[in-house]
Amino acid sequence: MNQKRSQWASNIGFILAAAGSAIGLGNIWKFSGKVAAYGGGAFILCYIIIVFLIGLPVMLTELSIGRRTQKNVVGAFHTLNPKWTFCGVIGVITLFVILSYYAIVGGWVLKYIWVYLSGADFGTGQAAYENYFTGFIAKPVEPLIWGAVFLILCIYVVVRGVSQGIERVSKFLMPCLFLLLIACVIRAVTLPGAMEGVSYLFSIHPEDIGMNTFVGALGQAFFSLSVGMGIMITYGSYVPKKENLVKSAAWICCLDTLVAILAAVAIVPVVFVTMGSDKLGMGGSFAFIALPEVFAQMPGGRWFGCFFFLLLFLAALTSAISILESCVSFLTEEFHLSRLKATLILAIPMTVLSAGYSLSQSSARGINLPWFDFANGLQMLPMNAVMEKFTDNLMIPLGGLFFCIFVGWIWGTKNAAAEIESERNTFRLKKVWSFIVRFLAPVFILLILYFTIGLGQGLS
Ligand code: PFF
Repeated sequence: MNQKRSQWASNIGFILAAAGSAIGLGNIWKFSGKVAAYGGGAFILCYIIIVFLIGLPVMLTELSIGRRTQKNVVGAFHTLNPKWTFCGVIGVITLFVILSYYAIVGGWVLKYIWVYLSGADFGTGQAAYENYFTGFIAKPVEPLIWGAVFLILCIYVVVRGVSQGIERVSKFLMPCLFLLLIACVIRAVTLPGAMEGVSYLFSIHPEDIGMNTFVGALGQAFFSLSVGMGIMITYGSYVPKKENLVKSAAWICCLDTLVAILAAVAIVPVVFVTMGSDKLGMGGSFAFIALPEVFAQMPGGRWFGCFFFLLLFLAALTSAISILESCVSFLTEEFHLSRLKATLILAIPMTVLSAGYSLSQSSARGINLPWFDFANGLQMLPMNAVMEKFTDNLMIPLGGLFFCIFVGWIWGTKNAAAEIESERNTFRLKKVWSFIVRFLAPVFILLILYFTIGLGQGLS
């Protein structure tokens, strides 16, 4: 019972590991796609406001729950108020589903690194890039093998533990990620004509700002900061009492936002110059279809492509590690399993979900599942779409909402603030934070749910 709990060996290690969780596929292609879809600078401005107004306060609620209880997501709620254990369960379910598809997309990224290393031959013809990608993801076995390789890498790190595995790997990988990103940015902005794209990114047209922009920004911010599903409860539970949670959370938010904006600077102008703005809004296939097409047209494109996918891989790996760690800590603490056993037990149902996600990429083999929203009623949709909607549109906002209600109204912002202030750390904006957690954030999150479940709109 009194077994010594793991802790981060250093605060910088914690910040890098948490930033590693936050900085992921979401920052690199999801953010760029959204910036393009929502009108450039206007979206970036709304995003920054939302990150610091809502994302940071919600992150602090999670960190305070984690550090106070020193428990996994489920155990943390159970300790503070057993009736609210369901909040932790929501978190673990969300994380489990996200990891099932994150691993498959991570596998796609590994495959593309391999393709670039071996010569970047995507075939010929007008639709070569699209055919290559859609042909690959629709294969029955190969994407699963790449996904398994990605997952095995995560397992390798997580089994080694918090400070010896996750912290060490993050301290090495995060600086590598920054260097790669800077290299990509330099290459992008020195292309002839790139400044037009940069100015598109940073010019703000107030008429582009609407309710949609804020809702899109909030959905993106939660996913990107890894809040709303308990990752920060788990990572917060390893933080020593003397560390300043407010400063650490501010660092994590700044790093995450910086990387998202830099990634947009590395991507948007390049696509803008080579193909015009109409290619920008391609969503999920953006990284795998539009960008390789762009890379092929620029000098040194093969190596740029290689760097870019390596960057995407590092970002995805540290995020997936955080998800796996949160699930594993739940199993090891609540069921007294070893890390290895817990990981292997998780891997079995995860394989089923991952396989369903991957197979549903092909309409021929597609597995359909029911999905409900008030605008469209009950529909049968491909399993991959249902998994993404389930996490992005329903579970993450729901998790964020319950965390705020729990801290704001049940456990109490006074208790949470006392944890944040422990060992004489100061928390000057306590009152503002308390107001946001009790009122502002829940209202914003309900608005997301109104858009997604009420109006049937997607956040992606
Ligand atoms: N924040 C990660 C990204 O931006 O890609 C994704 C993510 C990581 C989502 C961890 C959820 C999570 F628990």
